[in-house]
Amino acid sequence: MAEAKLIGPELIADPYPTYSRLRRLNPVFRDPEIGAWIVTSYDGVLAGLRDSRFSSDRFAQTLQLLKFPGFAHLAPARVHSFIDRDPPDHTRLRGLVNKAFTPNRIAALEARIQTLVDQLIEAFPRDHFDMIAALAEPLPLIVIAELLGVPATDREKIKHWSDAIANAFSGSFAIPDVALLSRAAVALTELFDYLAIQIEQRRRDPRDDLLTALVRAEENQSRLSEDEIYSTILILLIAGNETTTNLIGNGLYALLRHPEVQQDLWTNPSLLPQAIEEMLRYDPPVQMITRTARGDIELMGTLIPDGEKVFFILGAANRDAAHFPEPDAFLLTRDQCKHISFGVGTHYCLGATLARLQGTVVFRSLIQRCSQVQLADEPPVYRENFNLRGLKSLKVTVQA
Ligand code: HEM
Repeated sequence: MAEAKLIGPELIADPYPTYSRLRRLNPVFRDPEIGAWIVTSYDGVLAGLRDSRFSSDRFAQTLQLLKFPGFAHLAPARVHSFIDRDPPDHTRLRGLVNKAFTPNRIAALEARIQTLVDQLIEAFPRDHFDMIAALAEPLPLIVIAELLGVPATDREKIKHWSDAIANAFSGSFAIPDVALLSRAAVALTELFDYLAIQIEQRRRDPRDDLLTALVRAEENQSRLSEDEIYSTILILLIAGNETTTNLIGNGLYALLRHPEVQQDLWTNPSLLPQAIEEMLRYDPPVQMITRTARGDIELMGTLIPDGEKVFFILGAANRDAAHFPEPDAFLLTRDQCKHISFGVGTHYCLGATLARLQGTVVFRSLIQRCSQVQLADEPPVYRENFNLRGLKSLKVTVQA
């Protein structure tokens, strides 16, 4: 299977031809180089993610990473959030966070998100500029920071910490290198020192913010422990930042590479809901979900032995012709776009409503306020993170 190699810089630039080859050759196969199973068909990914025998518990992997000397002083439980846990722990923790992360709290954000997007668009530099730096990166950062209730002056620090941690803990098929681990160790230490002060302040002086809600969240006489408060904030920061940046960046890049589709959308903005779903399908912000087999499990006729690691590739499932006609085309005419970019089942993305809301406000505002958005001459640059695959820069020209 050497012609479908899953490691290397070419894969970040465009993983889709490789996915397609893998799906054709063998949609459930073990890659000896990676030492794990790779699932690329829609039915396989869906079946696997719905099967509770594929465990999300990544504590053993976390402990492995934390052997790196820079992490010696950290309590492992502080980085073991509910995305990395199975029921019943997952159920209890997600329930507590859900209490704080209510649909009302999210819906109430629309006006604020609109104000932020308006301000960012008004500050667009003239001529040509980087849309990631101008809009796709700052928006999710400000939104999650305001939700948590951290001061505006601390946002940049938080973004820096969260990116450094995400790069080491959610990056690729391979074990992260020493440079990534060192940066993550410093970032985790600084972030936790910072959060200790914020959490203490909320205990003394409760406010109307998510940090206070997490400190107080209570269900069936159970509260978040100290470690659980930290790990939950950590996952909200990591899951809420680069993912949404990628929705905006990858989504806009897809539109700009398909000017006829962009033209349709600009002429008929009522197509926006389909456009957002197609962006999520076509170039998903999260490429894969990792699980571990608990017991020997048969998946689509292939036996995956107990203890084996499995990568369910969302980006590949979303391009499976068995479920999406013309899978490599970017279309606004799909009746029902059943992409699985927010995951499936128990761990379905907690922030899906918030992410869709931000995407909707961004593209609605670009349609209303910019008569033209075009790719500039410089090619876009991808970040190195394969899992949270997205653009580091996307140079565009814009006309009001
Ligand atoms: C377009 C943007 C986003 C995408 C594509 C995305 C994707 C995903 C995916 C695929 C999962 C499932 C992980 C698994 O099964 O192991 C997930 C889980 C999660 N997401 Fe998102 N996400 C996005 C935005 C957000 C935002 C804005 C937040 C919150 C602020 C968020 C918070 C979470 C959390 C807390 C989980 C863990 C849920 C659980 O384990 O029960 N996500 N997300």
